[in-house]
Amino acid sequence: MKSNFCLPAFALAAAFASACSPAAPPEAASLPAPVAQAPAPASAPAAAPSLVAEGSPAASPLPRLVVHKSPTCGCCSAWIKHVEKAGYPVEVVNGEDLNPLKLAIGVPAGKGSCHTAIVEGYFIEGHVPVEDVARLLAERPDARGLTVPGMPVGSPGMEVPSGEVQPYTVYLVNRDGSSTPFSQHGR
Ligand code: CU
Ligand code: CU
Repeated sequence: MKSNFCLPAFALAAAFASACSPAAPPEAASLPAPVAQAPAPASAPAAAPSLVAEGSPAASPLPRLVVHKSPTCGCCSAWIKHVEKAGYPVEVVNGEDLNPLKLAIGVPAGKGSCHTAIVEGYFIEGHVPVEDVARLLAERPDARGLTVPGMPVGSPGMEVPSGEVQPYTVYLVNRDGSSTPFSQHGR
């Protein structure tokens, strides 16, 4: 069964070269859509991570993720759905070549993936589970961001019908460019 996933993980191991297959013009209708508006006065979104400060206004307190991706990447879109489901607003920026951005914000070569998200000064590279994003934003370490190198089978946006999860590590990328394990999944 062929899926519309991006390149397999090993193809991305050496560098974050060509992420997903580039095609289509970059300006393929991506408005920063206001997602997850909850007009209900009383019921708070249950799935939202517990970042809600006491007495915060009714509007979603979760910060917006700006997700840079190839316009044709299916797994990127699946990851975006995963993040939106948790209540995060997402703005999508489609682009052919994400390497200049990845270099500029300090994604380590060899530890890149397909899409690159930015939230509150951190990058979120690849298929990072949203609970790790929430933890990062709660702990606020002095770091550049999180990455899941490559595209592990079973990570958010890379699910397979069998439910298999290839063990993978989320790394915290430090200011000096080094990276340390942040969390483990699939074991
Ligand atoms: Cu991907
Ligand atoms: Cu992606």
